Amino acid sequence: MSRKKVIAGNWKMNTTPEEAAKLIAEIKPAADKSTADVVLCVPYIDLPAALEAAKGSKIGIGAENVHWAENGAYTGEISAPMLNALGVKYVIVGHSERRQYFGETDITVNKRTTAALAHGLTVLLCVGETLEQREQGITFDVIAIQLKIALSGVSAEALKNVIIAYEPVWAIGTGKTATAEQANEVNKFIRDTVASLYGAAAAEETIVQYGGSMNAKNAAELLAQPDVDGGLIGGASLKPADFAVILEAASK
Ligand code: 13P
Repeated sequence: MSRKKVIAGNWKMNTTPEEAAKLIAEIKPAADKSTADVVLCVPYIDLPAALEAAKGSKIGIGAENVHWAENGAYTGEISAPMLNALGVKYVIVGHSERRQYFGETDITVNKRTTAALAHGLTVLLCVGETLEQREQGITFDVIAIQLKIALSGVSAEALKNVIIAYEPVWAIGTGKTATAEQANEVNKFIRDTVASLYGAAAAEETIVQYGGSMNAKNAAELLAQPDVDGGLIGGASLKPADFAVILEAASK
């Protein structure tokens, strides 16, 4: 079977609601032309404006994180029912910046993942090794551990709402992209790991993206790899012209 490509933007801590609406208006034409699924994950406060701006287009809107509890004394957090109430369909979980700067662990990634899935959200689950881990030759070990813990308790049915993003930490925001071969090698390993957990058929259907300095120049080559089913894009998703090139590359 041939998997659909999913191109997702991760805006990180950028854009006001007004800027978000403007950016989405600029991205819309290219998104609607693309055969790929298009998702934009935006800061919490931008969500209402983004949902409004994306109305009538094929752009799906996502959050950048979600708490595992439904409500309670968790200052600064946002729950899955809150995202449901707005009409948000996607959420990023386990981004390396959350792991690096905000104490995210494999255990909390699992808690967020299962809670998001229980509330019908599609999870963009991020995994990836640091440069040090790559140099130590433990990339596959790290990825397997991150993946197995994150997916613990996730049923085969719920897995259909999980998109996995391979994001090597050393390639994020550094301009240093994994080669197409490196990206495909790890993406294939991710698919094999999913196969070991859920069987080959489920693994064949799972969308595995690449993320890390994907841009207008390198997207076509990365997206042409057999196990690269799309991209999770930071910097270039804030530049409509560049993002349009990536969306076009994903349509081939
Ligand atoms: P960059 O595309 O800016 O490297 O960011 C990638 C990323 O972290 C997407 O989640």
